[in-house]
Amino acid sequence: MKDLILVTGGTGYIGSHTAVELINEGYEVVIVDNLANSTADSLDGIEKITGVRPAFEQFDLCDKSLVEAFFEKYPKLKAIIHFAAYKAVGESVELPLKYYRNNLVSLMNLLECMGQFKVPSIVFSSSCTVYGQPKDLPVTENAPILPAESPYGNTKQICEEILRDSVHSMPDIRVIALRYFNPIGAHPTALIGELPRGIPNNLVPFVTQTAAGLRGELKVFGDDYPTPDGSAVRDYINVADLAKAHVSAIGRLLNQKNEANFEFFNLGTGRGSSVLEVVKTFEKVTGVSVNYKIVGRRAGDVVAVWADTSKANEVLGWKAATSLEDTLLSAWNWEKKLRGIQ
Ligand code: UD1
Repeated sequence: MKDLILVTGGTGYIGSHTAVELINEGYEVVIVDNLANSTADSLDGIEKITGVRPAFEQFDLCDKSLVEAFFEKYPKLKAIIHFAAYKAVGESVELPLKYYRNNLVSLMNLLECMGQFKVPSIVFSSSCTVYGQPKDLPVTENAPILPAESPYGNTKQICEEILRDSVHSMPDIRVIALRYFNPIGAHPTALIGELPRGIPNNLVPFVTQTAAGLRGELKVFGDDYPTPDGSAVRDYINVADLAKAHVSAIGRLLNQKNEANFEFFNLGTGRGSSVLEVVKTFEKVTGVSVNYKIVGRRAGDVVAVWADTSKANEVLGWKAATSLEDTLLSAWNWEKKLRGIQ
């Protein structure tokens, strides 16, 4: 019998790619999402790619009674991957309580039900934002956690603390926190991808929308950083590669291979790319030019961060495989499909 995995936020960007990889690896998936920042269309995409339509329950994980009813309905649940969260940095500064309530309460409801219904394993979506601007690069998991730059970033730090404290009081619970660097791109079939609402905050959706003519001009935030070309450097990781790391993490938890009840891993490529390098690589692989202008730095941005991925490589047996070129092409293919561009 297939092991049943709950994917919260499973109609969203990383969640939908992870649902695909889980199904491809022989897991059964049930998705919970309130569609606050995604649509049920991703279920069609998942079904077209895998031939399987995952079960879907639309509700808000902040409602404890609904979470309990869910665990009662799915008594065979083996593990959880918790993606469902708000993630817009700017909005979190304007509406911090919205972020704290949603991101913390949903996790606490899940943890309480995990204890109550004896579902011991959870993979948590965390972020490299917990490191701020690290002193040493590439950044390892041993780098200090720095004060968060935004309420969003703080919710990731607090959630990790909640998880760390919970494994002490609930010794059966096993947690893997995955700290993502910058996930980009789309599934190679272009059947699922990122669907930003309104004006994108993140670089790659802004690049693809500018190339598609939806935005007049990409603003490159800063060219006076102490980096080779002056623009900021990040570790851009292919979303389908990233999704596969979740399958490894689930396997590790279900087979009880974890050495500690709380483990955390960096997920990146191990390589830094500058904003200008991303733009130029995009232009090279797509043949489409991107109208851009250099403007001042964006508040809260770090100069450069990329991952030391040895721990994930060795312990999870996972490695990013897709090049920046292919990943940017996948982002463009998805954007073209959304906009009906040939
Ligand atoms: C941001 C968040 C991070 C979150 C991640 C995923 C901030 C400060 N950090 O990471 O906490 O986990 O998204 O959602 O917002 N850029 C431009 N022009 C643009 C957009 C971005 O030049 O129009 C630059 C940025 O200045 C940065 C790089 O591109 O140097 C990447 O930006 P972005 O995609 O927003 O990711 P991060 O800021 O790294």
